Amino acid sequence: MLFKTERLLLREFSPDDFEGVHEYASDYENVKHMAFGPNTPEDTRRYLEVQCREEREAIPRMHYNIAVEEALLHKVIGGISIHLNWRRDDGILGVIISRRYAGMGYSTEALRGVIDHAFRDLGLHRVHAVVDVCNPAMIHIFEKLGLRCEGRMIKRGKSRPGADEPYFDQFGFAVLREEWEARK
Ligand SMILES: CC(C)(COP(=O)(O)OP(=O)(O)OC[C@H]1O[C@@H](n2cnc3c(N)ncnc32)[C@H](O)[C@@H]1OP(=O)(O)O)[C@@H](O)C(=O)NCCC(=O)NCCS
Repeated sequence: MLFKTERLLLREFSPDDFEGVHEYASDYENVKHMAFGPNTPEDTRRYLEVQCREEREAIPRMHYNIAVEEALLHKVIGGISIHLNWRRDDGILGVIISRRYAGMGYSTEALRGVIDHAFRDLGLHRVHAVVDVCNPAMIHIFEKLGLRCEGRMIKRGKSRPGADEPYFDQFGFAVLREEWEARK
């Protein structure tokens, strides 16, 4: 898997991406909305050497973790995941961009490329995401890309240990293939 956008290469992860991945995966502020981290060096190595390889080799493939490489820097600055449902026609998206490169339009550009890929190459019928209601940048990006807010899911998210509340609300966002094509 390899495709390009204006500034990015979107490709499989490799163990050589350790430095770029560990920069964001080990940073609490960067991962606090994610289901993983903050990573130890061993967590990041295991992710790159074991998890990504197992996902690539699985038949049928159900999980895509896509490295977001800044083409001029030759460095991974983030990642996008798509996890397929059992019918392999709907995928849930996750995205992270290193704080060092925040606010430069990278996640918008990468998501646009990955959603194109999901409909064009993976043949999906629908793509969706769930977002913490307290993550305004992510909500703004999904709205800007044309995903529909399908509602607020009460206490669907599980908080990290030590939070005031054990669960938090999430918005569901989705787009169908025909809606995505119509916007282009
Ligand atoms: C959320 C995240 C992916 C955004 O990545 P990014 O590359 O900085 O995003 P972009 O630069 O493409 O776009 C950021 C947009 O959010 C907007 N934004 C930033 N802070 C905002 C806020 N507090 N309220 C509303 N919009 C905000 C920016 O103005 C920009 O929109 P614009 O281009 O229309 O001006 C990144 O900050 C990140 O990895 N966060 C931690 C992980 C995470 O929360 N992932 C989502 C889990 S579902």
